[in-house]
Amino acid sequence: MHTKYQIRQMLEQANVSLSGESIAQSLGISRVAVWKHIKALQEEGYSISAVNRKGYVLEKTADIISVDSLRALCKEPMDFAYLPSIASTNTAVKALAHEKNEGYVLLAGEQTGGRGRMGRSFFSPGDSGIYMSMLLKPTCSAEQASLLTALAAVSVCRALENVLNLQLQIKWVNDIFLDGKKVCGILSEAGFNMENAQMDYVVIGIGINVYAPKGDFPSDLQNLAGYLQKDAAYNLRNQLIAGICEHFMQAYRNLNETPFMQEYKTRSMVVGKDIFVHKADGLRRARALDIDGACHLLVEYENKERELLHSGEVSIRL
Ligand code: BTN
Repeated sequence: MHTKYQIRQMLEQANVSLSGESIAQSLGISRVAVWKHIKALQEEGYSISAVNRKGYVLEKTADIISVDSLRALCKEPMDFAYLPSIASTNTAVKALAHEKNEGYVLLAGEQTGGRGRMGRSFFSPGDSGIYMSMLLKPTCSAEQASLLTALAAVSVCRALENVLNLQLQIKWVNDIFLDGKKVCGILSEAGFNMENAQMDYVVIGIGINVYAPKGDFPSDLQNLAGYLQKDAAYNLRNQLIAGICEHFMQAYRNLNETPFMQEYKTRSMVVGKDIFVHKADGLRRARALDIDGACHLLVEYENKERELLHSGEVSIRL
């Protein structure tokens, strides 16, 4: 672990101030070196103050995404990378798909061109969310790979509920809602090898509104988008990211034996509801009857005609 993060860990664990001298001694470095590392941590956003010239204290307030903290927290051997700003983590991971191995996870502080489903954009302002893309190299059919999005949705719900004790629901296909507002969207993209009819790679992109964005959501999102909590909590996003990766990878390794679709269905906010099915030529009124093991949505239109939707968009009729 980088020395500066060893210092951060020492300050995290100490409930009182730690003197530069004692830190220097434990790490076998000079006091000037300690001071330089403290300055570097402060520049990263950590709130560390020098008290009465006696020592340093870390105020556990800022929520900073840190690869080093993620490595310490996550029990799965992910290859985490972080960039403060990027157009889109999904676009970047797709470009790196042949260079990187399964388990590469790119995180961004903000996205300037965050992408959503159906060609939409995904609002990704700085320091308020989680924007992550995970690279997978599954040896499964395209049909099975499409279930990875459902698994990602279930994994996000589990991680958020474990850490924050929230009640989340999934709106088919892969939007996650808290108290009627969308707090997370998932965009899965795949590279398909035409020669062997296998998946080359899958990129699972997850965007979570953790905190309210500075200056609020744009007006078109204000009634639709929500966030998980108001105030920043120390290390929260690292805990959530690590939890999502753990839940996902544990089930992904045993995809055939993992009964996560039942959980997906239990968490569904559309089954049993009157909905609109979004068609190219407009909205069609229907009732959502069921979601099957392949994550297809069975709907019944007002004329009693039924359709098994493989993908698309629905909205709940109020
Ligand atoms: C949606 O709600 O339509 C899906 C949104 C997916 C957003 C995530 S954020 C990380 C990754 N990078 C992107 O550009 N999009 C996904």
